Amino acid sequence: MKILVTGGLGYIGSHTCVELLKEGYEVVVIDNLSNAKEEVKDKIKEITGKNIKFYLGDMIDENLLDKIFTEEKIDAVIDFAAYKAVGESVQKPVEYYTNNISTVLVLLKEMKKHNVKKLVFSSSATVYGNPEHVPIKETDKTGGTTNPYGTSKLFVEQILKDLYKSDNAWDIAILRYFNPIGAHQSGLIGEEPNGIPANLMPYIAKVASKELECLSVFGNDYPTKDGTGVRDYIHVVDLAKGHIKALEKLEREQAGLYIYNLGTGIGYSVLDIINAFEKVNQVKVNYKIAERRPGDIAECYSDPTKAKQELGWEAKLTIEDMCKDAYNFILKNKNN
Ligand code: WQD
Repeated sequence: MKILVTGGLGYIGSHTCVELLKEGYEVVVIDNLSNAKEEVKDKIKEITGKNIKFYLGDMIDENLLDKIFTEEKIDAVIDFAAYKAVGESVQKPVEYYTNNISTVLVLLKEMKKHNVKKLVFSSSATVYGNPEHVPIKETDKTGGTTNPYGTSKLFVEQILKDLYKSDNAWDIAILRYFNPIGAHQSGLIGEEPNGIPANLMPYIAKVASKELECLSVFGNDYPTKDGTGVRDYIHVVDLAKGHIKALEKLEREQAGLYIYNLGTGIGYSVLDIINAFEKVNQVKVNYKIAERRPGDIAECYSDPTKAKQELGWEAKLTIEDMCKDAYNFILKNKNN
């Protein structure tokens, strides 16, 4: 089977390419390198011993997509290509909606034209807004998103539901990721450490490696076990494997629209993560308690039962694996 992976050189995309190649899929990538480096292609080769076919370009470019679908005989698409910085999306809503929604519309148009109707879409737990309860099930209420990034994912989910309603020959899996962290064990690919990270794990890793001085823990007065925010952190390699299982489901089913949470089902607090990181990497993480970050919620973790039952997938790697691999990647890529 030949899979088009949009945004395939990015963080989650690159790890998914590795798993696809390992499972014997042929992989075609389109990436505009807006948040990825071309050398990731070589790293994927180094890990798997296999090549991907790479197209440099933007998904908004209908002609390029048309060319790819005409030349490559694609069987299914995994769509990762999107902007993903929550804070930035508040400053640049038009750019976020354009990039995260218009590109999908172009992609769907071209898929329809070339009669490719199998799609795995990269969504996010952020579509649940401030959850009414935890753990969160797929059937729980969505909406109430607090930033354009989250809203863009919610809109695309709706577009996909409408599309399926209009033509139920489509075969679509929407995957809602919780908090992906960590890196490939090799340390060759991971989350690119450019600039000051907005997310917890890359920030911790940079404090540990002395690139940053001190972590601010955003609030210790939440109604959680130790007062700090609780999240469902998932190793990016487990997450990547979830995509293979989703593809297998689409191969089995022929048509349908399926939604899955991809998480571990375990909630860890910010202090849990700091402690696990220090212990497994034998390194100190300086931190101070700071004000709550606007827009943050107290707790968010998944009920991953549906993915286990229907996909035969569950996260296997531990919080220690996540901390170890995140730090390994930062140390190996410190001076890049
Ligand atoms: C985790 C916890 C913070 C940084 C975001 C997006 C979400 C998803 C993943 C893609 C919270 C605390 C953080 C810091 C801290 N992305 N924290 N100090 O906010 O759960 O989710 O990324 O879909 O959509 O919203 O992740 O890593 O930013 O924060 O104390 O310097 O760490 O308050 O409790 P978040 P995060």
